[in-house]
Amino acid sequence: MHIWAVANQKGGVGKTTTAVTLAGHLARRGKTVLLVDMDPHGSMTTYFGHDPDSLDQSLYTLFQDVERVMDVIIPTGFENLSLLPASTALATLDRQLGTQEGKGLVLKNGLRSLEARYEYVILDCPPLLGILMVNALAACEHLLLPVQTEFLALKGLERMLRTIAMILNARKHHFIYTIVPTMFDRRTRASLEALRSMREQFGTELWDSVIPIDTQFREASRVGKPLSIMVPSSRGSRAYEALLDRLLGQADNVRHLQLVTS
Ligand SMILES: Nc1ncnc2c1ncn2[C@@H]1O[C@H](COP(=O)(O)OP(=O)(O)OP(=O)(O)O)[C@@H](O)[C@H]1O
Ligand SMILES: [Mg+2]
Repeated sequence: MHIWAVANQKGGVGKTTTAVTLAGHLARRGKTVLLVDMDPHGSMTTYFGHDPDSLDQSLYTLFQDVERVMDVIIPTGFENLSLLPASTALATLDRQLGTQEGKGLVLKNGLRSLEARYEYVILDCPPLLGILMVNALAACEHLLLPVQTEFLALKGLERMLRTIAMILNARKHHFIYTIVPTMFDRRTRASLEALRSMREQFGTELWDSVIPIDTQFREASRVGKPLSIMVPSSRGSRAYEALLDRLLGQADNVRHLQLVTS
């Protein structure tokens, strides 16, 4: 089971879109995928037609009883694609658990029992640093950082990378990360310049291609379908397919490394 997290403390940069579109591609290729909505706003839960205000069972349940993970998962209506939904109760977790030992590993432990069921798990993180983000970073082997190609977004990225370094140092847990430039508009100077600064500043961790602006993403979220399933040939969908191929290549390298070193 591969666990990928999609995170950035900046809001509206394409985190949920990245999680849903990659998951759609994997599902289309016949892979079993679990999407985990870790955002108390529940955008991804809403995306698939559920109401995060009225769900009885959600990721929150897992934080009360980690054994109940299977009770919480719901189908999305798309083959091979399941959802562990969010509910608004998640917003209270930080206050409740903030300082309790071991609560940073709830998700990692919960996902362990799903090993045989899902080949890929994709975590859609909230735009906040808190117990949920800590859980996501502790559970994942690969972190994706979508960054909007505009100047202000770069500042946010630096902050995010500092946060990650802090968490990594504290936990001695290793994962690789990939910065994914999103909403790229090649007709605007702002996009071109932001991409150039990113390339100068973040060489090797930066994906060497981009996700373009594609208005069909909004349409796909309106009808509740991953764009990769709704219109696989769209520009945006093809860009995520290229990203997926790159991530799968890296996953093979990680596996190879583990075999060599074990
Ligand atoms: N490449 C793109 N082209 C055009 N629109 C996009 C693209 N990616 C995302 N969007 C749209 O931008 C909006 C924000 O995207 P999304 O919800 O994925 O961001 P987010 O980082 O998850 O936001 P939040 O921080 O609020 O969770 C959505 O309406 C989405 O449809
Ligand atoms: Mg989101």
